[in-house]
Amino acid sequence: MENKLEKIVSWAKRRGFVMPGSEIYGGISGIYDFGPYGVALKNNIKKLWWKTFVESRDDIVGIESAILMNRQVWQASGHEKDFVDELVECKKCHARFRIDEIESSNLKSQISKCPEGGEHEFTEPKQFNPMFKIHVGVIEDEKSLTYLRPETAQGMFIDFRQVMEVSRKKIPFGIAQIGKSFRNEINTKDFLFRVREFEIAEIEYFVKPGEDEKIFDEWVKNWEEFILSLGIKKDSIENHEHPKEKLAHYSKRTIDIQYKFPFGSKELAGIANRTDFDLSSHEKASGKDLKFFDEESKDKYWPYVIEPTLGIERLMLAIICDAFEEISGGRGESKEESEASEIVLHLDPSIAPVKVAVLPLVKKLSDKAQEIYKDLKTCWGEIEFDESGSIGRRYRRQDEIGTPFCITIDFEEDNKVTVRDRDTMKQERVETRELKNYLFEKLESF
Ligand code: GAP
Repeated sequence: MENKLEKIVSWAKRRGFVMPGSEIYGGISGIYDFGPYGVALKNNIKKLWWKTFVESRDDIVGIESAILMNRQVWQASGHEKDFVDELVECKKCHARFRIDEIESSNLKSQISKCPEGGEHEFTEPKQFNPMFKIHVGVIEDEKSLTYLRPETAQGMFIDFRQVMEVSRKKIPFGIAQIGKSFRNEINTKDFLFRVREFEIAEIEYFVKPGEDEKIFDEWVKNWEEFILSLGIKKDSIENHEHPKEKLAHYSKRTIDIQYKFPFGSKELAGIANRTDFDLSSHEKASGKDLKFFDEESKDKYWPYVIEPTLGIERLMLAIICDAFEEISGGRGESKEESEASEIVLHLDPSIAPVKVAVLPLVKKLSDKAQEIYKDLKTCWGEIEFDESGSIGRRYRRQDEIGTPFCITIDFEEDNKVTVRDRDTMKQERVETRELKNYLFEKLESF
């Protein structure tokens, strides 16, 4: 199974999905760049998330808060003091591990062996705060110090009052945000799983204390449904309840939705009950009233907060792992092609970076194919035109990047084209003038 991740890393680079950051200078660990197909996939995931949780609901509004915030935000939130990872180092090979990885039962066997021979010999655990320090202004002293945000949540807490007022929302309501976050992680070996620069999509959902437990359960369901709507199989995920003694400093209850990655079942997304920890802490530190006043009951209180959260890159890795199929010997579709193995990316059409590829059988048919391509482009941006190489090779190229449909234009004079389905390889003749309707129906979920 470990091998599957190596295959995905090499495929992702070869096909322009994910490339190591700063590679021409030898790279920078835990940082990745996204190529043309990668950024398209990422944007499609984010668009669907925004559509599902912001545009389709009346009780959630979106914001974009700044990455850099006053240092007092991180002092009040507890991050400066309590946002710590515990790490140990092997005295022989100097590899560093997070304590939670060593304790995790599904990783114990992988970690126990030292490349220098025998078992690792660990140092005493050390505490490490993964926030990147940064100075705002020209003088680098204590006064100018702050941090790159390690989560987007705090932006939603400090803007809570203003957002509630301008959007005229009443409890229960939520604030949603997708944005860059930064953590100086100890261990970044598992590709996109744990990176140092990544995007979080999260919602702070403000509720009346007492209603928090019921609404928490609803969000576990909503989060699960969203993950499955992206094409991830139900069997590939499982819930994990955090034991009380392992909860984060702000949480009353946390459930992780874990994905069965090739390197073990690990957190993909989480739902936390943050109680009134953040709003009360910011009110005490800033002196600004962050309570909700209920006009009907005349009650004034700090709302409790249910926080569903997920990392976009981690979700993207889970989607790719789930969709990635390597077929040794190929699918035998074309006799002239004998492939050692074929890769098919079974992406859900709603997030596929290319929805349809238009392929003239031979270059002589390019003009006719270009007309169809340009016409389809008026409906979907994500259309590709490819005239180079044999038709079999072009199908393989599209299968590898997850294109659900290929349209082949041939010499037949019947005003029809051939539409090929990526997963079944079934080919259907479709009237050219019916093509758009046909594709609209097939891609309807988008
Ligand atoms: N506001 C809550 C919060 O930040 P978290 O569990 O620390 O909670 C949220 O992070 C999500 O961000 C995780 O569920 C995970 O999907 C993702 N995530 C966290 N650290 C990450 C990293 N270093 N690289 C990629 N994704 C990460």
